[in-house]
Amino acid sequence: MSNNSQWSSRVGFILASAGSAIGLGAIWKFPFWAGVNGGAAFIIPYIFFTFTIGVALVMAEVAVGRRGRGSVVSAMRRVGGPWFGIMGAVGVLTAFVILSYYSVVGGWCVAYLWDAVRGAVTISDPQILKDNFGALVSSGTANVAWHLVFLSLTCAVVICGVESGIERISKYLMPALFILMLAIIVRGLTLPGAWAGVEYLFRFRWDSLTSSSVLNAMGFTFFSLSVGAGILVTYGSYLSDKTSIPNASIWIAVLAIQAALLAGLMIMPAVFSFGLEPNAGPGLVFITVPMIFSQVPLGDVFALFFYVCLLVAALTSAVSLLEVVAAFMQNEWHLSRRLSVGISWITLFFLGSVSALSFGPWSGFTVGGRSFFDLLDYVCTNFLMPFGGLAVAVLAAWVAWPKIREQLSTPARQSEHKLMFIHTSLAFLAPLLVLVAVYQGLFG
Ligand code: PHE
Repeated sequence: MSNNSQWSSRVGFILASAGSAIGLGAIWKFPFWAGVNGGAAFIIPYIFFTFTIGVALVMAEVAVGRRGRGSVVSAMRRVGGPWFGIMGAVGVLTAFVILSYYSVVGGWCVAYLWDAVRGAVTISDPQILKDNFGALVSSGTANVAWHLVFLSLTCAVVICGVESGIERISKYLMPALFILMLAIIVRGLTLPGAWAGVEYLFRFRWDSLTSSSVLNAMGFTFFSLSVGAGILVTYGSYLSDKTSIPNASIWIAVLAIQAALLAGLMIMPAVFSFGLEPNAGPGLVFITVPMIFSQVPLGDVFALFFYVCLLVAALTSAVSLLEVVAAFMQNEWHLSRRLSVGISWITLFFLGSVSALSFGPWSGFTVGGRSFFDLLDYVCTNFLMPFGGLAVAVLAAWVAWPKIREQLSTPARQSEHKLMFIHTSLAFLAPLLVLVAVYQGLFG
């Protein structure tokens, strides 16, 4: 059974959770999302949310998981009663839906990796790069096929169990990704006109601070920390009592922020230097990074390495999403791990294909101006995840605080101030911010 497994060490848990946090959200979505939402007007609320409600929710989720020892449904039910079990089920659904479209973008990473293997990505002409990206996403067959490849890789890892495989690759490739990003940043910053990109990211302009930039920043905080979809409850259920939850959670948040900011610095300076639009959307990473590589010696080799790392980052996040679903099926439906993964593979293939096709052949089908892909992303990040976070906050702060407090103080006692800060964040700040933001999103 999944809930008998345990992480090999504290570092293993932190790496796997940071691996879940750091993925396409930080590297692919953050740069263009910051671009679309006005740079600093998005980044400042994002950092603020991460270090207030974000970290507190990470701690609460892990604590619920370790106390409840089971899939997100059983853990929440054990800690808070049957209603919270239902909220846990919403978390499983959220993870399932996110994985369906996440896998489509994961597929693009595989496609670019394949091109890098063939030495065909380092092109310096932005128009060709834009056309190539456009051709990939608008071709229904290619998009569905790459989605299937990525999804199958994810399933293969989860079938083997997360601990041995994914814990081990993350240990080497996540640090490698950081080093590569630093190298790309150095190259990007030394391009002519690059500082305009840094300024764009970090200069604050009041007029860009709108309710939608704040709502998007909050949604992104949940997305980037992987909170509100049961991931950290599930991962927390495999955590031994020897690890301090507050310390591990701070590590996870710091690593996640750092990855996003580095990705922003990797992309934006080059965007300005090459005269691209900062709000060019989902293609940004796939267009600017190859351009930067075309400007360095051995660019092909670096490109290859970069896409391997990007794929691993995406994979460790996708694995965490699938683990939530698989742990649920094993715990609640008493299926084997293999069968749980098999059922997920088939159903996710179909749901994901609708998203994959929504870029090309089915792009005419929109709801409120959003394609199917955008619609799922919008609903998950701006409503389902914040709602999931709210449920955990209420559970931890109002229903089961003594149990959570005990978890947070195991193995080491925490200062009263720290516990009070966490309790207040969960009891008041998190619910308030979530409700205001969701209200703004719906009626603002
Ligand atoms: N945090 C992941 C990323 O940034 C995505 C994710 C969201 C993973 C929700 C799990 C749960 O890419």
